[in-house]
Amino acid sequence: MKTVTHDIPHAWWQQAVVYQIYPRSFMDSNRDGIGDLKGILQKIDYLKELGIDVIWLSPIFQSPNADNGYDISDYQDIMKEFGSMSDFDELLESAHQAGIKILLDLVVNHTSNQHPWFIKSREQDKHFRDYYFWRDGKDGAPPNNWTGVFGGSTWELDQQTGQYYLHLFTPEQPDLNWENPAVRKEIQEMVRFWLEKGVDGFRMDVINCISKTPGLPDGRVDASGQVDSFSLCTNGPRVHEYLQELYQTVLSQYDVMTVGETPAVSISDAVLYAGFDRQELNMIFQFEHMELDHGSFGKWSEKRFDLVDLKRCMEKWQTGLYGTAWNSLYWNNHDQPRAVSRFGNDQEYRTISAKMLAICLHMLQGTPYIYQGEELGMTNARFSSIDDYRDIETLNAYRDLTESGKVSSEQMLRYIHKAGRDNARTPMQWNADRYAGFSTVEPWISPNENYKTINAQYQLADKDSVFYCYQKLIQLRKQHHIIVYGSFHLIGEDHPQVFCYQRCYEDDKLWVVCNFCDETVEYSIPPVDLTQGELLIRNYNGMPTITSQSGQNTLIRLLPYEAFAILCTA
Ligand code: GLC
Ligand code: CA
Repeated sequence: MKTVTHDIPHAWWQQAVVYQIYPRSFMDSNRDGIGDLKGILQKIDYLKELGIDVIWLSPIFQSPNADNGYDISDYQDIMKEFGSMSDFDELLESAHQAGIKILLDLVVNHTSNQHPWFIKSREQDKHFRDYYFWRDGKDGAPPNNWTGVFGGSTWELDQQTGQYYLHLFTPEQPDLNWENPAVRKEIQEMVRFWLEKGVDGFRMDVINCISKTPGLPDGRVDASGQVDSFSLCTNGPRVHEYLQELYQTVLSQYDVMTVGETPAVSISDAVLYAGFDRQELNMIFQFEHMELDHGSFGKWSEKRFDLVDLKRCMEKWQTGLYGTAWNSLYWNNHDQPRAVSRFGNDQEYRTISAKMLAICLHMLQGTPYIYQGEELGMTNARFSSIDDYRDIETLNAYRDLTESGKVSSEQMLRYIHKAGRDNARTPMQWNADRYAGFSTVEPWISPNENYKTINAQYQLADKDSVFYCYQKLIQLRKQHHIIVYGSFHLIGEDHPQVFCYQRCYEDDKLWVVCNFCDETVEYSIPPVDLTQGELLIRNYNGMPTITSQSGQNTLIRLLPYEAFAILCTA
């Protein structure tokens, strides 16, 4: 029987692999310790060698850097430390020449408090006052009980006017008021400016926060005193109207891709944002698999994920969106710790487990994202002092949790080693030279000390490296439609150590088997003659070991962190 796949429209962004660059940490071309656009330009050949189709650049716009560029003070100018507009034009042109597209990071839930709109708004300029949320306090307290993503109230008192303004993130990131049509118009024009330059799309920062619950009511308080403000600021009543308007007025006139960052979304929300017929976004980043190791202080925990939970979560998204909307696939980004440290083993089995994670993710249905350094199996950093950390979220959480006595400073450092955002932000490890070949002067954040052994130069010289595993996976996606369009079926959902799934397309079947533990495992799958199939990829040499085969089942002996994909054609 043929599997029906014709209801999935075929688009370039479905067949693409995206590579995320955090410009501050990628490559410093002018010896000031900060990555920049010219640095990225120098590395286009490297990216071409890897084979990626699209670069997503974390924000490159003018910013006072309260949150490393996610606080923008001019959407149409380049951050001075990163270079100039002509550097950007050159980068875009060179990338295009190399067949690589560029996505920009659209941060429009909030601006910087240094943005001229906010400065005028604060000065009570008639036109600009309503660009942001200004409210009176209640008996000397903020207008409601909401708490921000980076701690504290979401409201900041402005002494001059006696009113408070809303900021879901730091006080330097005031939220834009999308209810004001003038705000939406400004954003549409700005988006058009970049599209006219030739950029190929956008990753949209916390885009499901742009419509808040009308009246901004208090959030529910749970038994431990935690306020649920987030559900009142996400997936609000007008969010789809705003996104459809952006699509109709601007995006639909260009052949671009869009991916929305959307924390706290269900499958049914996702179908509304990214459904094929919705005219909103092409895909979203959901966060459920990023929350499986959270504890009572949220991300600040030492809990390790449970594989059965991870499999159920992946299955839910793989099957839930199939034929209706499109998945994005990722293990890490600039806000998350390193995948090999979190889901694999960054010590004895670093190379093998980094490849296992790559195979596991890249054989799934959806558009894969690689975060800079993931293709080298870069690991978490584990600095010994809080003074070595730079991230505002980490520093705020350290202060709040240790000063309140909830967590000791030693314990907090362990949480940061495991979950802090700076794990992703240490300089890209290019070679074994001082400062990892990222710069010749001391970088804004220290390199991970393991750059002497883990770096791009060594891996490019070693055909067995993590780098070439990613290169191969990218090539396979181009060669086999089943990887892009096949349906997903989880096998053995309760097995605690092995993640096994099957992809089906027309009459072909792709078997993907991944051992998530550091032991040899005897694993049984339904009867299939794998020896007749084509081995697409494996993280050990040769064919996997089939120990027995009968009418009942096929038994496989999986080595520690072994992963493979075998294509069985009819
Ligand atoms: C998103 C970004 C994160 C940033 C936040 C506020 O979650 O990925 O880095 O801090 O939005 O803009
Ligand atoms: Ca620089």
